[in-house]
Amino acid sequence: MSSRRQKIILIVATTVALLVLLGILVWQRRGSPERWNTFLVGDPRMGAQTFRQKGCSGCHSVLGAGAKLAPDLGLQGAAGSSMNELVTQMWNHAPRMWKQLKISSVSFPQFTPEEMANLFAYLYVTCYDDESGNRAHGELLFTQKGCIRCHSIGENAGGNVGPNLSEIGPVVTPIFWSQTMWNHAPAMQAHMHELNMAWPQFEGEQMNDLLAFIRYARGGPERESDVLPANPRRGWALFREKGCIACHAIRGEGGTVGPDLGSDRPLPRTLTQTAGLMWNHSPEMWAAMKTKGIERPTFEGGEMADLIAFLYSVRYFELGGSPIVGQELFSERKCSQCHGSDAHGGSIGPNLRKAGKVYTPVNFALALWSHGPRMYAKAEEMGLGWPSLNEGDLSHLLAFLNSSPVQDKR
Ligand code: HEC
Ligand code: HEC
Ligand code: HEC
Ligand code: HEC
Repeated sequence: MSSRRQKIILIVATTVALLVLLGILVWQRRGSPERWNTFLVGDPRMGAQTFRQKGCSGCHSVLGAGAKLAPDLGLQGAAGSSMNELVTQMWNHAPRMWKQLKISSVSFPQFTPEEMANLFAYLYVTCYDDESGNRAHGELLFTQKGCIRCHSIGENAGGNVGPNLSEIGPVVTPIFWSQTMWNHAPAMQAHMHELNMAWPQFEGEQMNDLLAFIRYARGGPERESDVLPANPRRGWALFREKGCIACHAIRGEGGTVGPDLGSDRPLPRTLTQTAGLMWNHSPEMWAAMKTKGIERPTFEGGEMADLIAFLYSVRYFELGGSPIVGQELFSERKCSQCHGSDAHGGSIGPNLRKAGKVYTPVNFALALWSHGPRMYAKAEEMGLGWPSLNEGDLSHLLAFLNSSPVQDKR
């Protein structure tokens, strides 16, 4: 081969390599807004700083500590117990908060998406329960599902085949729970086999209720701070390293033995429900792993959190609302008067369904914080008053705002 040809090949190869690199960089840039999909990827430690720096702590206390000008944002306070409720309450109380800001001549703080994600991560780990369950029902389930045949928990005496569940891990939170149940399930399955017990199945809210009971019975801290912030990029690596991808595709890329975990599924998915799903499917999953010769993976430290953050970033977890109900609410709450009935923008309010824009509770709060005061001024001008939201409205509204505009044309 002539050296001229070698040179050309080298130049072509370098160009291709550069283009690929550029492609990857562009792709990563494109993907980056999704990293802020949820509070999961915010850093609660940074959020605590943000809470002080932005002056929230000048009026609000958290769990009793801090100023008393505004409601305590802790669990014992007026606020509810989920991320959606927190945002809903913030929306409803916003005008009074703005007035207070004016009176106290506190300057109006602006946030970047990262700061808002950090702030929510902080409020979440310090104050909020991801999903509250019914602990009385959970206590019943502990017996009904047969856990009590092998486990005691605190004062509740049961079998001693498995450990007393009061003694497990530092925290019992949804993410930690998913990890623990996943890791210990094979040993449990073997014992159930001996006892001729069927693999218990969980539906709907049952896993939440059980978790609520277990948290209550064992006491202690309930904070997820040990595993947050989670890193979706690491989660994507784990998804491949742990062999999930051999059976599960993410939007069509990957195996087809198990369901696609990136698809837009109609069912609501919360962390605890997912723990329940993984538990339910465990025996089939292991059987499938055996046939494929895949070793059953276990998870340590923050790994499950990373994996879950990744599943969040591909939107396996739906917000759980209905776009149809959401559109109705959009009119009922008078949003349509300014933003148009299809939310594509009216004479006063901007288009809320721009292509590629995805609203989550966190960036909806960010939008409220940055655009709310002007929205409020307009509403006053028009004599509309501030549209207040009911608990449960938010998930439907977001489902509507996130639905593809193409769906309207049917
Ligand atoms: C100048 C005082 C002040 C500052 C600063 C302030 N707030 Fe508020 N906040 C209020 C008042 C007043 C209310 C509403 C009380 C009401 O309507 O009863 C409120 C309500 C809320 C609520 C609803 C609480 C509930 O349980 O009903 C949330 C959430 C909230 N604020 C978050 C924040 C965050 C986050 C920050 C910092 C970025 C912040 N606030 C800064 C005064 C303030
Ligand atoms: C047939 C007996 C049996 C039943 C029924 C059973 N378990 Fe277990 N469980 C065990 C054994 C044995 C272990 C220890 C497994 C190991 O070492 O990997 C265990 C471990 C656990 C752990 C991990 C404890 C730790 O040390 O971190 C949790 C959590 C748990 N079980 C929850 C449950 C729940 C919830 C139920 C009911 C749905 C249940 N178990 C039903 C036998 C059982
Ligand atoms: C060898 C194949 C295989 C591997 C590897 C595997 N799964 Fe599965 N998975 C399945 C099958 C099959 C099902 C459905 C079982 C059923 O229908 O009961 C399933 C179901 C699930 C579900 C419930 C899905 C739903 O929406 O109903 C989740 C979540 C899940 N797997 C997560 C994982 C994760 C995370 C990993 C990697 C740690 C993993 N799986 C590895 C085969 C596998
Ligand atoms: C009185 C008119 C009016 C009403 C009613 C109204 N909005 Fe708005 N909205 C506006 C205006 C004006 C802006 C832009 C403010 C700005 O430019 O800062 C806006 C901005 C927004 C934004 C931020 C857009 C962005 O860039 O991300 C969101 C989200 C939003 N509105 C949602 C709603 C929802 C949900 C409702 C009903 C509960 C509602 N609005 C009711 C006038 C209104």
